[in-house]
Parts: sequence; C-alpha cells; structure tokens
Amino acid sequence: MRQIAVLTSGGDAPGMNAAIRAVVRTASAAGLLTYGVQDGYAGLIDDRMDLLGRRDVGGIIQRGGTMLGSARSQAFYEEEGRRAAIGNLERRGIDALVIIGGNGSQTGSLALTEMGFPVVGIASTIDNDLLGTDITIGADSAINVAVEAIDRLKVTAESHRRGFVVETMGRDSGYVALMAGIAGGAEVVCIPEQEISPEQVARELGLAFERGKRHALVVVAEGAQHGAQELWDYCEEHQAEVGFTLRLTVLGHVQRGRTPTASDRLLGTRLGQGAVDALLDGQTGVLIGLYSDEIIRSALSDVGGKKRGVDPALLSLAQSMSR
Ligand code: F6P
Repeated sequence: MRQIAVLTSGGDAPGMNAAIRAVVRTASAAGLLTYGVQDGYAGLIDDRMDLLGRRDVGGIIQRGGTMLGSARSQAFYEEEGRRAAIGNLERRGIDALVIIGGNGSQTGSLALTEMGFPVVGIASTIDNDLLGTDITIGADSAINVAVEAIDRLKVTAESHRRGFVVETMGRDSGYVALMAGIAGGAEVVCIPEQEISPEQVARELGLAFERGKRHALVVVAEGAQHGAQELWDYCEEHQAEVGFTLRLTVLGHVQRGRTPTASDRLLGTRLGQGAVDALLDGQTGVLIGLYSDEIIRSALSDVGGKKRGVDPALLSLAQSMSR
C-alpha cells in the first residue's frame, strides 16, 4: 500500500478534523501518502482531491466542522456514481479510502466495499446511532451544547415560572435529546424511538406544576413522532391543565458548529489512528469504533447502514429522574 484517501461525509461533526489529522499523520509516519477528498462523495465523483502533508493538518484539532467539507450526495446512491468514484481513485493509484461519517456515509462504505474497493469507515455523527461503537465522533460536543442551552433556559424559566419546549437535532435518532434531557434534568424527553402523545406531555407538565416546580423542560428530538411545534401548540391550547406558560426554542445546527470537546478530539484522534492501523494490517471492509474503551474493527457487512436503537435503561432513567 502506497497511497490512501480520506473524506468526510454527511452532517459535519465536531472532532472530524481530529480524525483527518490523525489519519494523515499516522499514514505519513508509515510512509503512506494521503489525499484529502473535498466535499465527501461528491468530490470523489468529481475527482476533487489533493495531497495532504503533516503540516496541512496543523492547527485543526480545535476546530469544529471539517476542513475537507462534507455533503450528502444523491449521485453516490447510483451505481454509476460509485463506478465513477472508483475510477478516479484507481486512476490516481489510490489503494484504499477512509470514510469518516455516520449511518448514510457508512452505507456508502459498504457499497464501495461490495464493489471491490478497499474501504475503512470511521464512526462519526452527532446522532450516535451506529452499530459497532459505543460512541461516535461529535455526539459529546452536541450533547454539551444542548445541556448548556437547557441550563440557561432553566434560569429564565424559573424567574417567570415557565415551561420550555426545546428541540434538539436528530431526525432519526433520539440519542442527543435523551442524554441532554437526563443531564439537563428535563421533565419530559420525546424521541423518534418512543411515542409520547401531546396529552401525556401536557399531563407531565401539569403534574410538575402541581408539585410546585418553578420551571419545566420538554426536550424534543427533531424527528420525534410529535414534533416540538405540535407539542407546544397543544400545551398552549391546554394551558389551564399545564399550569406553566410556555416558550419554544429550536437549537438546530448550533449543536454541530461548536469547538469539539476534549472527549471528541481524543475520540477522533484514536479512531483516525485506528483506521490507518487497520489498513496497515491489511484489513479493509471494516468500521472503526470504540467499545469498552478499546478501538475495535467491525465488518461493514454487519454494521453498515444499520441503526442502533436507544438503550431502554436510559429511557427509564430519564423518566424516573424527572419526578
Ligand atoms: O445526522 C446528523 C444530523 O445533524 C441530524 O441530527 C439532523 O437531523 C441532520 O443531520 C440535519 O441535516 P442537515 O444538516 O442536512 O440539515
């Protein structure tokens, strides 16, 4: 193996830069050249890539986002697009590709692997919904933004005896909402994986009001079956039952754009090194993740494109702590 390429794909996640840096520097230490592909799969199809040296990845470990750019490419879903991508890699003499991204991106890793191109994936998404890892790059940073926001909302909520409906990211996954809800002391957490009706939410808020609470927080993942706006509308209409007056706050991409936490920098660095180590061992078609604090390699055929559910113990913890 002489040359590899690295790309970031899907939603950017704080800590992706640490992973890129670790890939480039580990590869360089082993005598490999690394190409950085621009804008994910789109750049692969359009043959937009440049060689990256050790110095090119200096000063990025503390930066959120991704220095390579990212995208969600429709063309890559077509076999023709993937063939063009492989053609470009082969023409440049690139022997293997490292793909840093979440569920959709690792479905792409699996598709390339099945077409015979050597790929190693790195688990990276704020959603933490991949199999093959305890935690993905970016989740810790996103949760911390949401918790900081919740803490601040509680301060103002308490002053006015208000309830807040807070929407976090996660159109398919409730991990960020659930963890932020537990860490922020929310009264109710609503996530795509578990249906909670507007009636139940109003009831929980009403009970919190009766218990004499001066604030109440409903944390709602973007993809919850009843969205934040719908819940807010319902609770406003049933204000007499709810007790609290209500406000709605949508956190959105603020959660992705932050400086990575130390934990995400460390995770990105460890997984980036782990990906190149796998390549040097001649192992491809794997996703690099962290399990019980060990770097592990899972077959993409087992984990690619499969969504991890939420832990029911965490759901019941959120519920029992809210009373
Ligand atoms: O997959 C990561 C994620 O941030 C989700 O939590 C969110 O639902 C989605 O991306 C938003 O995607 P986009 O940045 O394309 O709007």
